[in-house]
Amino acid sequence: MTMTMTMSLFDTAEYDQDHGWRQELCDGAVVLRRFALPDETAILAALHDIVARTPFRHMVTPGGFRMSVAMTNCGSYGWVTDTTGYRYDSRDPQSGNPWPGMPAAFLELAHTAAARAGFSDFVPDACLINRYTPGARLSLHQDKNEQDLSAPIVSVSLGIPACFLFGGYQREDKPLRVRLTHGDVVVWGGPARLRYHGIMPLKDGHHPLLDGHRINLTFRKAA
Ligand code: SIN
Ligand code: FE2
Repeated sequence: MTMTMTMSLFDTAEYDQDHGWRQELCDGAVVLRRFALPDETAILAALHDIVARTPFRHMVTPGGFRMSVAMTNCGSYGWVTDTTGYRYDSRDPQSGNPWPGMPAAFLELAHTAAARAGFSDFVPDACLINRYTPGARLSLHQDKNEQDLSAPIVSVSLGIPACFLFGGYQREDKPLRVRLTHGDVVVWGGPARLRYHGIMPLKDGHHPLLDGHRINLTFRKAA
């Protein structure tokens, strides 16, 4: 299947009184521009605590490649990869400890963003935290390790901008390119739940709160 949509702010924008504006990417997927901005202070404080307890690390793929994106997790489950495969684990394999709990500010943000996108009752039990530095990228993939595919994915972008690739149901389908900036939230679920997506190599940049980094929080219902 080939995606034929084109992105035009003016075709799809609809002003959202409280937080920003929304852009539909396709049936089941929407960008909520600046949706996380009002919560940035609480989010960054919580992030700081998590990272102090469970530092970012570069995981290794089943193919043996070190990922350019550094990762950690919070919540009941964390997504991990090593040479044996991908999985959700209730413990940080590095320390053997449970992951830090999901902060209330994270839960609230994920829940309200999902509801705004049309997915009510989203209660994530996993949050993968990705840290990108310039040059880091995430190749096209599907999020399909989760048990319950009826729950959406809620993805929060913080820090320097990135080019998000949002594709079809086949890796070869030409993806949309969507620039994501600080505070933007992408929600995909329902008919869009298994679309391929990724991040182009990050360009240099500077953000007043996150220096040369991009942080992405991806909320999932893993179990
Ligand atoms: C992901 O697919 O897990 C992350 C996407 C992103 O960094 O925006
Ligand atoms: Fe993903």
